Amino acid sequence: MAIRTIREIGDPVLNKVSKEVKEITPRIQELIEDMFETMYEANGVGLAAPQVGILKRIVVIDTTGEDPLLLINPRIVTSEGEQTGNEACLSVPGKTGVVTRPNHVVVAAQNENLESIEIEGDELLARALCHEIEHLDGHLYVERVEGSLKDVEMEDDDEEEEV
Ligand code: NI
Repeated sequence: MAIRTIREIGDPVLNKVSKEVKEITPRIQELIEDMFETMYEANGVGLAAPQVGILKRIVVIDTTGEDPLLLINPRIVTSEGEQTGNEACLSVPGKTGVVTRPNHVVVAAQNENLESIEIEGDELLARALCHEIEHLDGHLYVERVEGSLKDVEMEDDDEEEEV
């Protein structure tokens, strides 16, 4: 396992559309392990493969530190309700902004064996699912920020969940 370099806003790889995963190769397995390690090391709650420079439709999420979720080829099938709150991203360090997201989503995806799975998420998990899936299509949350992007104050550093 290895910590990978997190790409930051301005890096063109973050604006590209990722490709569907059709086969789990040893390289993909290694990428998945590295993505979890990189996310935990950065204290993030989610990470998408393009954030480490790999244009594949792979997302890892853990909103509690105890619920690692791997989503391959994820897509939102249902979204309901609304939540408005601060969002942040490991690829946009030191910044936060207000984004409105669905409060509940159902996501269809595949697991590490390319078997179909369905994940339901509310609140922070719903936000993280939406945020990460957008990374796979080359979009960053900064495009959706209401008002302006703000600097994260050091004392508030752990209040923002970076995904
Ligand atoms: Ni992000």
